[in-house]
Amino acid sequence: MKQRVGIEAMAVAVPRRYLAIEDLAVARGVEPAKYTVGLGAREMAVADPGEDTVALAATAAARLLRAYHIDTSKIGMLIVGTETGVDHSKPVASYVQGLLGLPRRMRTFDTQHACYGGTAAVMAASDWIASGSAGGGTALVICSDIARYGLQTAGEPTQGGGAVAMLISDQPEVLELDRGMSGVFSADVHDFWRPIGRREALVDGHYSIQCYLDALAGAYRMWRERAMGREIVRWGASLPSEQLARIAYHVPFCKMARKAHAHLRKSEIEDQAGGALDAAALAREEKLGATSYRDQTAPSLMLASRIGNTYTGSLYLGIASLLHAQGAELAGQRIGLFSYGSGCSSEFFSGVVGARAAEVMAQARLDAILDQRVRIDVREYEQIMSRPYDAPVSEGPGAFRFAGFEDNRRRYITSPLVD
Ligand code: HMG
Repeated sequence: MKQRVGIEAMAVAVPRRYLAIEDLAVARGVEPAKYTVGLGAREMAVADPGEDTVALAATAAARLLRAYHIDTSKIGMLIVGTETGVDHSKPVASYVQGLLGLPRRMRTFDTQHACYGGTAAVMAASDWIASGSAGGGTALVICSDIARYGLQTAGEPTQGGGAVAMLISDQPEVLELDRGMSGVFSADVHDFWRPIGRREALVDGHYSIQCYLDALAGAYRMWRERAMGREIVRWGASLPSEQLARIAYHVPFCKMARKAHAHLRKSEIEDQAGGALDAAALAREEKLGATSYRDQTAPSLMLASRIGNTYTGSLYLGIASLLHAQGAELAGQRIGLFSYGSGCSSEFFSGVVGARAAEVMAQARLDAILDQRVRIDVREYEQIMSRPYDAPVSEGPGAFRFAGFEDNRRRYITSPLVD
């Protein structure tokens, strides 16, 4: 029998504060519609230095273990996908292992390739389980990041932060991954980078969008070839991409998902036609594409619109949003997924939604997590952004928090009970 593998359970952690995106637009003298319509943003998570990548990762993982009563003795691998780690040597995974008191009989490491680092972790864990090397064990994969471009930059309204923790196992209650069907695409490009020592990313914004779209077309074509080889999709009355019930994309800002979906469809129609589309075909596609976006992709955007970019966690927040909203109706259906990391590396893959996905996702309490947040104004946001990375805002018990350094710059994280 075929080895099943995929996501068994998911949990999320987000910073405690957020900024309404219109407030930021007004403060920057920008027409609010540029951010709300032009970028598709609504709210932006604001992490204070106490909510670092380790604290967010540990909080998400603690919620996962608690909500799903996970047997930690079976976890044989702990991987954190991140591009905003806290140390050049000691991985975030190692802190999380200690903070959660996880067993020592496990591999721990971080994976990095910009926003693709989370998918690198998911694939490494899945392949380990599918290969039989896990011996029936499970893997804890966490995507944790804080997206910072800095005040008054073009990237400012696309900041955010958060973590997604997932149990990867041979009981994929949430999503069973299609093994051996991934399409990949990578290239050495300078679209987004963060030199050692900088807190803020540097980005060639418009070029980064083009790099993302090129990677999407390349990765999707490879996925399609492999899926057609297995007769999972075919050319016919509907496009192969329309045979996927939903498609969730990496979402640096919500409008990017709309651009991605339009580009995927246009390149697919051109592949079918064997060349560029004429004006009439383009006009027809504009209408069809808008409906397809509304039905196939928009349902995965709730968390991204309220949190902003979470880098490695972005695609996985998309899966969580989608199954939170439509898990019951999607049970047994195949969805497509696109992960992009600047630099760049990308993967188009797919999976089948589990029969109990809606029930399992309800345990993640996504609405409650968003409702507990506090709205701040632009003055408070700017104060938080100007704090040195080792000066957390002092707060009472709640989630895990970075509290400062001990002797010889050993990192000190408070370990309160998680809400
Ligand atoms: P910008 O240059 O200030 O904005 O920054 P713009 O002039 O391109 O305008 C944005 C959109 O708003 C446009 O829509 C305008 O027309 C529209 P589009 O033409 O693109 O569809 N607009 C308006 N709409 C309604 N009413 C108005 C109005 N005014 C304008 N009044 C940019 C935009 C995305 C470049 C910037 O925010 C940025 O640099 N962001 C960061 C980079 C990024 O997110 N890149 C995405 C692809 S790369 C990626 O996804 C990887 C990443 O996650 C990192 C990783 O891998 O680790 C970033």
